[in-house]
Amino acid sequence: MALDLSGDRFRLKTLSSRDVLKALKRDARAGLVHAPRSLPPKYFYDEAGSRLFSEICQTRDYYLTRTELALLQRHADEIIVTARPQTCVELGAGASVKTEVLLSRLDSRSDSVAYVTIDVCEEVLVESAGRLLCTFPGLRIESLAAEYLAGIEALHGLEKPVLYVFLGSSIGNFTEQEAIELLGRVAEKMAPGDHFLLGLDRVKDRGVLERAYDDALGVTARFNLNVLKVLNARLGANFRLDGFSHLAVYDDAREQIEMYLVAGCDQEVALPAINETICLREGERILTEISRKYSRSSVQHLLSKSGLCEQAHYVPDNEYFSLVLAKPAD
Ligand code: TRP
Repeated sequence: MALDLSGDRFRLKTLSSRDVLKALKRDARAGLVHAPRSLPPKYFYDEAGSRLFSEICQTRDYYLTRTELALLQRHADEIIVTARPQTCVELGAGASVKTEVLLSRLDSRSDSVAYVTIDVCEEVLVESAGRLLCTFPGLRIESLAAEYLAGIEALHGLEKPVLYVFLGSSIGNFTEQEAIELLGRVAEKMAPGDHFLLGLDRVKDRGVLERAYDDALGVTARFNLNVLKVLNARLGANFRLDGFSHLAVYDDAREQIEMYLVAGCDQEVALPAINETICLREGERILTEISRKYSRSSVQHLLSKSGLCEQAHYVPDNEYFSLVLAKPAD
């Protein structure tokens, strides 16, 4: 799956859907059949899920996107001057709305920058590439519909220096150990002169946090429930969406938001693709996501465990979010 950036201005590679289904079956077997039940968050992002997530980013309660965007706007020039990228690689690029700020500063500097986008949702990759190619006539885009790790492993022969970008506090959706493994893999790929731009949400007032993951318009609730539609479509399951409700709670001790789907009544759900039927009791929860929140010191800890070292750390006045520019540790 080597990436080839020569030729056309846009290329798309997609991980085979057979592999995706195999992984989903494995995850469903491991996470749904026995309590405590859980699912990895990557299954949220089918086409409808990616659209709902873009909608979440525009709600008043989800402060993360606009806070990070403001930081990017304020510091983009400094980031570009420091990193001088010939290639930008973005993990979980989604609609690339925030990264456009960086690309706009790059476009005026050079006409040969490559933008590599990795995301599990192919539709959103294609749609945003179409938009960006129009906006930036000098840009080349290579999109990879894949999970983060598979995407990272597929990176070869990138023009240096490379700026890796991982925004939206998506790193918080991994446990500490998983996050260290993922960032560590990127760090291993990095050469001297490469940089990593990482966005992380900060520990703060519980009310602010819980509202961000349970917005007043109910978009997050719809987004959470959408994963049941994904399971119904891909596993032939028969989850009833009105049988579950959305719950987001902040765990102070673990410094993380936990998002659940809570069964509204006793119910039996068939999962034909894995030959299982599961029985859920009223009030029983399925953990669908964690979103870890960081302090200055836990950011430092994460970076140093991953083989990275902080070069600049940008925060807004209210310290709601951290945008960190890092380089490989010597
Ligand atoms: N990376 C985002 C975050 O942790 C993802 C996210 C935001 C999310 N809101 C969500 C995922 C609601 C699932 C449900 O903030």
